Amino acid sequence: MSVHQIKRVALISGASRGIGNHVAAELLRQGWTVSLGMRKPVMPTWAVGHEDAVQLVAYDADDTQAEQRWVNEALQRFGRIDAIVANAGIMIPKTVIEADDEDIDAMFSVNVKAPRRLAKAAWDALCATGCGRFIILASLSGKRVKSAAAGSYSLSKFAAVALSHAIRQAGFDKGVRATAVCPGFVATDMAAALTDRPADQLTQPADLACIIAMLISLPNEASVAEFAVNCQLEEFF
Ligand SMILES: NC(=O)c1ccc[n+]([C@@H]2O[C@H](COP(=O)([O-])OP(=O)(O)OC[C@H]3O[C@@H](n4cnc5c(N)ncnc54)[C@H](OP(=O)(O)O)[C@@H]3O)[C@@H](O)[C@H]2O)c1
Repeated sequence: MSVHQIKRVALISGASRGIGNHVAAELLRQGWTVSLGMRKPVMPTWAVGHEDAVQLVAYDADDTQAEQRWVNEALQRFGRIDAIVANAGIMIPKTVIEADDEDIDAMFSVNVKAPRRLAKAAWDALCATGCGRFIILASLSGKRVKSAAAGSYSLSKFAAVALSHAIRQAGFDKGVRATAVCPGFVATDMAAALTDRPADQLTQPADLACIIAMLISLPNEASVAEFAVNCQLEEFF
């Protein structure tokens, strides 16, 4: 089989809705095989008729065994893993004074610890391709603390950015490239709960999906460590 006939395989967490759903649909459209990690696996409408290239896997980021099970299922069915899109995330809008340890732990569990376990579980497979890709949906909240209410979330997203850099460092010699994707408001359920701005003035998840598809399709010699994208003007983003 020539390299052009190989169907690359991407694992996308939190693919049930929002950004993850759009990323999975875009990757399938661009010829990838997609393995969808969902708390409640349901075949998306865009996947109907493409079941040979779509896998649904029960995945809860709070279950510390879930990543290894998912990787095993993907390898059993497709035999390779080329990219991880660690997208599942939660936001608890509390200041660092209001939040208690349970809030901080909950965000670190889904936003940081689960993506690290996913990279670890898929590591050998990612390295075996010679061009493995790891994307984490971090946030501009991983680059600056925009408001008091975003403070606790920012703790986890700064850590998510650090995780991506740490994976890039660990895997560079083996062809693994890692990117922290850092959006501002994206028109999903998460942003709807946080801002009154109309959805059409926010970054669209379909546009972010195209950006992520581009990032994981770049050659090893075009490593992008961070990608910031914003719907509004800020001093640095
Ligand atoms: N929207 C924004 O403005 C924005 C901006 C910057 C960064 N981000 C980041 O982008 C990512 C996606 O956000 P979104 O806007 O698409 O959010 P969303 O619409 O709220 O969707 C969140 C996704 O994460 C999944 N998820 C949550 N907890 C999970 C868990 N314990 N195990 C497995 N899946 C879980 C959800 O699954 P269920 O359907 O089962 O709940 C859902 O698929 C997140 O990491 C978020 O922090 C979002």
